[in-house]
Amino acid sequence: MRIESPHILRALGELGVERRPAASLAELTSLGIGGTTDLLRIRQHGHLPALVRLLRDEGIEHRFLGGGTNVLIADGELPWVVLQLIPPQPDVVVEGKTVWVDAAADLGRAVTTCARQNLGGMEGLIGVPGSVGGALRMNAGAYGTEIGRFVREVEVYRSAKGANETLREGEICFEYRHTSFAPGDVMLRARLELPVRPYEEILAGIRVCNEKRRASQPLNQKSAGCIFKNPPGGSAGRMIDGLGLKGFRVGDAMVSDRHANFFVNSGRASCRDMLGLIAEVRARVRAAHGCELEEEVIIWNA
Ligand code: EPU
Repeated sequence: MRIESPHILRALGELGVERRPAASLAELTSLGIGGTTDLLRIRQHGHLPALVRLLRDEGIEHRFLGGGTNVLIADGELPWVVLQLIPPQPDVVVEGKTVWVDAAADLGRAVTTCARQNLGGMEGLIGVPGSVGGALRMNAGAYGTEIGRFVREVEVYRSAKGANETLREGEICFEYRHTSFAPGDVMLRARLELPVRPYEEILAGIRVCNEKRRASQPLNQKSAGCIFKNPPGGSAGRMIDGLGLKGFRVGDAMVSDRHANFFVNSGRASCRDMLGLIAEVRARVRAAHGCELEEEVIIWNA
């Protein structure tokens, strides 16, 4: 979608919005898939309610993009604009055992910044690509650690109320790759509390997780991490692998030959290719195991 009306462009300027017309979302996603639309980047969290109000008043649909590492976006000219937060500097602030972290901060960098201040606990999250905001919303996890465990409060923009609000620990429920945030909540900032540990010990944990990840995941290929959630008590990767589907492809969308729950863009895959691959693999797992796999990746259909 292209915003062309001069009065909207002026209002966007007044809110300090950086606009990239006809941005390629493929360039903003780890899968390298996605069509084009206007990208509106905003620095001031406080301006978000006014920006969304403006778009609503003008009948312009919008979506929020975090780090772009767990999303599959439709091809072609998209019917909505995309909003993205610009991280402030610094985006990770440590005060004793407490860490204030901006939603737009890179998760891996947040983990290492905390480590340097002797704050551990998040070692398992080191290789999870993406922003802190995405990690909060999905309750990102790896190697026995989930981010939700450390959350004390989260500042969100609540679309339903059109205002920013702070949710405290007991008001948010974190489950496996799922949280109780409303669909219209946009993560802005979080306060985490982390255990104090010697830096060397945290670093050793980080190295172990990096090594495990390198050994089992296709890190040098375009992917959105695991495509499906693990079913209760099971492993989507093991089931797909067991069906001999590593290397199986629809167009340039391919089941990774390293980890079967990673679907990679091996060239110029389209969203259509990837959706086709997801549907086919799901159908084969259903036929073989009677198990309905649920996507972990977020799908933005146009
Ligand atoms: N396995 C296979 N073949 C494969 C892949 C896995 O047989 O192609 C087997 C493994 O040998 C192992 C079991 O399946 O016995 C589980 O595999 P793995 O340890 O790789 O973990 P996972 O359950 O597939 C989960 C998360 C990952 C996270 C890792 C490490 C989900 C959907 N995936 O993967 O998270 O990095 O554990 O903790 O929960 C993500 O969320 O995007 C993601 C990649």
